[in-house]
Amino acid sequence: MCGIVGYIGKNKKALNVLINGLKHLEYRGYDSSGIAYIKDNSLIIKKTVGRINDLEKIIDNDDYAYIGIGHTRWATHGIVNKVNSHPHKCKHITIVHNGIIENYQELKNKLIDKGYTFKSDTDTEVAAVLLEYLYEKNNDILLSIKEFKQKVSGAYAIALICDKEKDTLYAIKKNSPLIIGLGKDENFIASDVPAIIEYTNKYITLNDGDYAKITKEEVFIFDNDNKQVNYNIKTFEGNASEINKNGFDHFMLKEIYEQPAVVRRMISLNSVPDISRYKQILIVACGSAMHAGLVGKYLLETYVDKPVIVEIASEFRYKKLFIDKNTLVIAISQSGETADTLEAVKVAKKHKCRTLGIINVPESSIAREVDYVIYTEAGSEIAVATTKAYIAQVLVLAKLAYRNCAIKDLKEINNFQISLKKLPVIMEEILSLDKKVKQIAKVLSKQRDIFYIGRGIDYAISMEASLKVKEISYIHSDAYAAGELKHGTISLIEKNTPVIGIVTDQKIASKTISNLKEVKARGANVIYLTTKELDSEGDFYDYKIIIKNINPLLDPILTIIPLQLIAYYVALERGCDIDKPKNLAKSVTVE
Ligand code: F6R
Repeated sequence: MCGIVGYIGKNKKALNVLINGLKHLEYRGYDSSGIAYIKDNSLIIKKTVGRINDLEKIIDNDDYAYIGIGHTRWATHGIVNKVNSHPHKCKHITIVHNGIIENYQELKNKLIDKGYTFKSDTDTEVAAVLLEYLYEKNNDILLSIKEFKQKVSGAYAIALICDKEKDTLYAIKKNSPLIIGLGKDENFIASDVPAIIEYTNKYITLNDGDYAKITKEEVFIFDNDNKQVNYNIKTFEGNASEINKNGFDHFMLKEIYEQPAVVRRMISLNSVPDISRYKQILIVACGSAMHAGLVGKYLLETYVDKPVIVEIASEFRYKKLFIDKNTLVIAISQSGETADTLEAVKVAKKHKCRTLGIINVPESSIAREVDYVIYTEAGSEIAVATTKAYIAQVLVLAKLAYRNCAIKDLKEINNFQISLKKLPVIMEEILSLDKKVKQIAKVLSKQRDIFYIGRGIDYAISMEASLKVKEISYIHSDAYAAGELKHGTISLIEKNTPVIGIVTDQKIASKTISNLKEVKARGANVIYLTTKELDSEGDFYDYKIIIKNINPLLDPILTIIPLQLIAYYVALERGCDIDKPKNLAKSVTVE
């Protein structure tokens, strides 16, 4: 997690580039931040607890620097405080780091034995001290980096300044993302493109094991075998407006409203593969991406007629596996950097499985690791809570189910392409329900708990709706299979406990409605979300949201929209920091 940025050049004030870049990387972590730069031949470090806005307050805007590195932190080793925040410096070497040095304690002990002392509890300071120790021995940074890589295990994207080489930046990458942005008489280092897109759309993605020496005119890249290599220059095709709020109060709301446009873009999405030769499908993912996988399980089992298992990536990695070349492993990830999902793909490959990635960020680690990738084309997603990337993942899975459908002559299947074209307009109609949603959100925002129930595909959607509300509003919430409630959870229902019932599947609608009646009889405040087709009157609900349905393969995309809006407006009512919920980060690159 954590975001890193670096600048060297003569065109701009390094401090502006660093602060601006860090603001665009805050989604990666935002508990503390810092920068290091060279001014009048001296290295200056400024760091603070809090957001980039807080860092800005302690920086002297008149400081001119042509070289600098910056960091926004999501704490892993050591509490959130100024000492633990980056950059970390040991004599000549100053670094910022994203990732985890796994053998840091062992290295630290050895360095202490050699007489070094430590100020912080971080693994990063150990990396800085080790680099300094090697530099003192070798008097050569590149050689020291080479030896550093041999000694260190774990994940690291590092930007480094040596105060004896004031015209050079160094970068090192293993298992954490790092790019080098290319400008004219200036170059950049960043965890991700948004940090540099205002200045250049040309960049190089470093591979695992690579390291680089960067001056304002030149970039030299060395591979894992320490050979200088040529590199591919990529062009970022998106634009800077994607990383601005464009008049919305929050990125999350902007991204919810962008969803029809995402679907329009994806209608003509390149082909999805034929998966008929596999005996079973295994989906690995985390959080909302795993919830998209659960929707996919329902669609693929129903229409492709194959068993589908959904595994939480962090569990999959460590369990006994019954998979082989007849299993297709689908990894779903917005960032393409989630450590557990990436490792799950590597495990699957060791078991000789073919791997398919459903990924949003081009050229990300998982996209490069899988055998076949389908890009979701949701564009940059900045809000920590995913919305548009989630619906894009569900859409890819729906397309996969349609393309591989084993059940012929189904009306809904025949209508799929027509329904897909109509989908964005219906999504826009649902977005216009936001007055009703705000009224419900106001009631929910005062509650201690919110429960979501549904059966089948509605249960999968309930899980995503529940995660959305709890992560951004901090209200406790859980999702239950509606039939399971009376096996324990119903004891939690009291007068006015909110229960949101999702009822979109005709085959089981009456069953879920019975469950809603059971909670209503025990005092619950019932919010009934259903489709025009299934709408039924009764005294079992307090509020009702009716949405259009269009096609069973695409309806989950419609169902989640009012639930995303509810989560957003509940959090807004409670005055929460919606785009950056506490303790979270957008890209979870640690286990
Ligand atoms: C919740 C959310 C997370 C992510 C999860 C996986 O709103 O965004 O649960 O879905 O951390 O992230 P990716 O998709 O980047 O692998």
